[in-house]
Amino acid sequence: MVLGVSYVLVVLTILSMDLRISQATSRVTFQEPSIADYFQKWMIQFSRVYSNESEKQTRLEVFKKNLEFIENFNTKANQSYKLGVNEFTDRTNEEFRATHTGLIRGINVTLPSIMVDETVSSWKWNVNSNVGDSKDWRMEGAVTPVKVQGQCSSCWAFSAVAAVEGLTKIARGILISLSEQQLIDCDGAPNKGCRGGTMEEAFNYIAQNGGISSEYAYPYQERDGSCQYVALPAMQIRGFQYVPRNNERALLEAVSIQPVSVSIDATADSFIHYSSGVYSDPDCGTTVSHALTLVGYGTSPEGIKYWLAKNSWGGTWGENGYIRLRRDVEWPQGMCGVAQYGSYPVV
Ligand SMILES: *[C@@H]1O[C@H](CO)[C@@H](O)[C@H](O)[C@H]1NC(C)=O
Ligand SMILES: *[C@@H]1O[C@H](CO)[C@@H](O)[C@H](O)[C@H]1NC(C)=O
Ligand SMILES: *[C@@H]1O[C@H](CO)[C@@H](O)[C@H](O)[C@H]1NC(C)=O
Repeated sequence: MVLGVSYVLVVLTILSMDLRISQATSRVTFQEPSIADYFQKWMIQFSRVYSNESEKQTRLEVFKKNLEFIENFNTKANQSYKLGVNEFTDRTNEEFRATHTGLIRGINVTLPSIMVDETVSSWKWNVNSNVGDSKDWRMEGAVTPVKVQGQCSSCWAFSAVAAVEGLTKIARGILISLSEQQLIDCDGAPNKGCRGGTMEEAFNYIAQNGGISSEYAYPYQERDGSCQYVALPAMQIRGFQYVPRNNERALLEAVSIQPVSVSIDATADSFIHYSSGVYSDPDCGTTVSHALTLVGYGTSPEGIKYWLAKNSWGGTWGENGYIRLRRDVEWPQGMCGVAQYGSYPVV
């Protein structure tokens, strides 16, 4: 069975890379490896419990399909990135997207007066050459640990909060984890809590409603709730600014100054199963549905330019929760449309 043999390879590779199960264990357990065994181990690793046996069988089938996709991709020559098993491997693409993204585009930002527009006129986009070859805001202590949005379409809140956290460190000298839940509970229409929203609206809310709490004071609940904000902000902003659209050079300048919220297409299977390397997939389009925060840029050892982006899918996805997206592509919208809707908070 060719398929069976190749599965064994994948299983062993994935186990040793991602699940950190000791070599001794994997040798013993996988003398007669099977997908079902591997699935069982995966369930334990991610504390997965299914309500009944038929649900478990359904999940196993999805898991197998995803594993096959991952394996086929990884055996292709000359890819700049790899796919891998993560805690979402038992979900179909549609199921996953329905609950783990949540960007709404095409809603009108309600309070355009809060857009701080003096920045754009004083900022000579495209002439500042002082950006350096690489940037990693994590190294400058401006990025909190990767968070988990869970089954709530709140990517917009995580993206906005990560940008404000970066600004807090840059402007105030301290890194404080800030509250997504406050945005979910208190930042009303057109934002919709766990049913989606947009970062510009979140920045407006923070600017107009007395700032944002710390994560500690207003912790994440992974569901909609009533507003509990008591006006004790950990950070206040004046508003936000847009990055000029479809211009990766302008985006570079913005990210050289602070972390920037971006919108992307996250519908490609390869995106959901991304594990490492510089992501570059022509199937990743420009119709955006998810939000990330750009926290750096650079060039890989292979010479591929990338954006460093923080996601909100926990640390088992991607490079410990981050993705490197190919930078300076041939089309102006950028890889996965990343250059279309950049925005950042302003103090
Ligand atoms: C098994 O669980 C699934 C998901 O919770 C549910 O939809 C299904 O009706 C259950 N089937 C049986 C036989 O209980
Ligand atoms: C491999 O990728 C590199 C960089 O994208 C490209 O220059 C090269 O032609 C590719 N080689 C093959 C065999 O496709
Ligand atoms: C946004 O505003 C524009 C101009 O006022 C209007 O034409 C458009 O229909 C609005 N879009 C939505 C989704 O409300």
